[in-house]
Amino acid sequence: MKIGIMGAMHEEIVELQQDLELGYHIEKIGDLDFMIGKLYGREVVLVEGGIGKVNAALCASLLSHHFQVDALLFTGVAGALHSDINIADIVLGTELLEHDFDVTAFGYPLGKIPRMDVHAFPANPKLLEVAKKVGTRIFGEKHIFEGRILSGDQFVADLQKIQFLQETFDGYCTEMEGAAVAHVCHILGTPFLIIRSISDKANHDAQMDYPEFVKIAAKNSKKMIEGMLKET
Ligand code: ADE
Repeated sequence: MKIGIMGAMHEEIVELQQDLELGYHIEKIGDLDFMIGKLYGREVVLVEGGIGKVNAALCASLLSHHFQVDALLFTGVAGALHSDINIADIVLGTELLEHDFDVTAFGYPLGKIPRMDVHAFPANPKLLEVAKKVGTRIFGEKHIFEGRILSGDQFVADLQKIQFLQETFDGYCTEMEGAAVAHVCHILGTPFLIIRSISDKANHDAQMDYPEFVKIAAKNSKKMIEGMLKET
């Protein structure tokens, strides 16, 4: 069983990288460094995929098709959309949706990708179950949320936009990669889970909160991956 682990940014994967067992090697594809080795005794391919949906889709495709991973875990930070979700809480994506996908001109609801069988891409239920168990054990039930995660090529820092995203899509948090990973995994048949730790509340303070809390959030995401690799 080989597990692909990706984050968008250095902060999101650096701690996992530090825990890779000695003797891992790097396979470079374009600008991407895929770290192949063992993490907490498990065979993994770890990579920093870059920010945004295109980077995420490319990276997820390579992990799935080239590296033939059996499951893909995405770890990173996100902006909360629900008022009861706080900074440092964890959101496990039950399903993922591209909130900036707009073919409403042809009568499709916002976020719907024409000619695809699903409106939002569902996560693997087994991975979700393990993550919930691990997250509840580490952080406590009150800090683990399961719900729809929204992705778009936008850093959201606007109250009106939060309200719009909540009302239109019932999103729990917003970020910039998860739905692209989910989209690719859905097509290629790779079981996946997107795990997000909250770094900001996607409001007018988001840019200020983000640098301060991104490190805490990234640490929490790392704890989740560690717990999951040890659990399964
Ligand atoms: N990642 C972390 N916070 C975010 C936000 N507010 N919008 C988009 N992506 C994010």
